[in-house]
Amino acid sequence: MLRHRSALVEWEEKRRQEQRRNILVLVLRHLFDEGYVEAAERLQAESGLSLSKIDAADNVNLSTAIQEYEEYQEIKYGRRPKLVRKVAQTDLVERSRPAVVGPHGPHQPKPCAISQSSLPLQEDQTNHHQNESHNHPRTGRGQANPNNTNSKQKGGGRASNNLKAPVSEASGVSNQAPKDSAAQATENPNTKLCVVGVGGANLDNTKGSVLSTADEDLFDLRLLKPMPDLGSAELQELGTMIRKDIYLENPNVPWDSIVGLDQAKELLVEAVVMPHRYPQFFKGLLAPWKGVLLYGAPGTGKTMLAKAIATECKTTFFNISASTIVSKWRGDSEKLVRVLFDLARYHAPSTIFLDEVDALLSQRGDGPTEHESSRRMKTELLIQMDGLAQSPQLVFLLAATNMPWELDFAVIRRLEKRILVPLPGLNERKVMVKRMLLPFMGAELLPKAEEMIAVATDGYSGSDIQQLCKEIAMRPLRRLMKLALGNEGDESQTSRKNPQVLQKEELPPPGPVTLEDVEQALLTSKPAAWHNKGELYQKFHDRW
Ligand SMILES: Nc1ncnc2c1ncn2[C@@H]1O[C@H](COP(=O)(O)OP(=O)(O)OP(=O)(O)O)[C@@H](O)[C@H]1O
Ligand SMILES: [Mg+2]
Repeated sequence: MLRHRSALVEWEEKRRQEQRRNILVLVLRHLFDEGYVEAAERLQAESGLSLSKIDAADNVNLSTAIQEYEEYQEIKYGRRPKLVRKVAQTDLVERSRPAVVGPHGPHQPKPCAISQSSLPLQEDQTNHHQNESHNHPRTGRGQANPNNTNSKQKGGGRASNNLKAPVSEASGVSNQAPKDSAAQATENPNTKLCVVGVGGANLDNTKGSVLSTADEDLFDLRLLKPMPDLGSAELQELGTMIRKDIYLENPNVPWDSIVGLDQAKELLVEAVVMPHRYPQFFKGLLAPWKGVLLYGAPGTGKTMLAKAIATECKTTFFNISASTIVSKWRGDSEKLVRVLFDLARYHAPSTIFLDEVDALLSQRGDGPTEHESSRRMKTELLIQMDGLAQSPQLVFLLAATNMPWELDFAVIRRLEKRILVPLPGLNERKVMVKRMLLPFMGAELLPKAEEMIAVATDGYSGSDIQQLCKEIAMRPLRRLMKLALGNEGDESQTSRKNPQVLQKEELPPPGPVTLEDVEQALLTSKPAAWHNKGELYQKFHDRW
């Protein structure tokens, strides 16, 4: 009886070890297939396993295993399981980790954050990745799940563009993505992702609302496919530079943090969010817009709108400042533009946000006034924009400017949808003031302050109102600082005169904002927005 039990225990232990080894082999195979060669080699060295001796069976890989697990949970519980969660810094310190018995004896696993930092960054993989063929140039292995019809496609790899996933250890840049990820993860400890055990109860809500606060944290640290092979060291360098402008962290600008601009929001949801979410409806005549232009006075919320799209959409978001391209890459900007669009296709579905686009695409001069390289770059951009219309990938160009009349007509025509982002009206100004001053003001005075400020700020942009509210909220703090410094205001002098400068813990909280504070701040405030340009925006709006 005893012998029988110990044989059973032994058998179970053997099975567990085999399971651990199999997991490692699948992970190794996955790393190699995705092009994370350095990481895979390190894992081989650490685990003592080698893909030259043991490899995943032909009909199994990690992606399909996870996909099938997700589908199973969805059928069973009606929702997809949550596979990863955000890890707070404290978790990392407190978490005690059990020793893991590897195929070659027990060893202590690395802290989650460290092992995660070597994980590849990935793009939004929901629809896109599941449907994608995974034939890899290095191995020729495809998605081996026989039930997956897409996986039967042979040889094309990520065929819809001419970029190849990295295959060579020698390419040097090919493993840039994991390094970028590591850097990001170290910089912002609150956004580390850690794979955790899952149970049926820990379920992800995949059905977020379109115009509500982004409800999930899964895009807090975006993962990207590894850098593709762009063909030459020069292009590779440009590509690496552009990839730095991809949002890896959620910019966290929910739609409802933007006051007003309802029409712009609606148009953007229709143009970008919906086609990404429900591609089945946006075909043929209803094919999604490929380019949208946001224009309006400075500080009216154009960049905020773009960030809200990045927050909501979860596409790969290239946040490109046009003036940076021009100043840094004057000679090379034509190549840069080509690489940018190549990468956008490679990482599709993606959104390219070209901020301050007027710096890049002002009207083409005829003759020697225009720099030759700048002309070539514009021509390249026009070609690429035309390419978007024909491309099957979901790549969307969002441009913003506060000088739309400066833009080349050919460009304006290609940015099919043009959206005016206006200055806030009276009601919007009230809402902004309320949101900003609520924490600083008594509830009984706040409506009066809202009214006073909203009436006095006709022609102000959202950003001007923010500056004004900051000035108002500073006033009680300034009073307190004077108190702290013995009513003198000059720290160096006061501490000499009054050695009993109040300590941090002795200070009372700053008092509330008074109506006098509001009046005083209004006296000195001026809007930075261009009053006199209102007419020009309207003219552009009427024309286009
Ligand atoms: N509609 C709005 N709702 C809430 N805040 C706003 C709004 N518009 C502007 N702001 C405030 O103004 C700041 C600047 O906005 P943003 O950078 O989006 O302006 P912009 O239109 O891109 O300006 P620019 O043309 O100078 O680039 C925001 O960070 C925000 O605090
Ligand atoms: Mg901006």
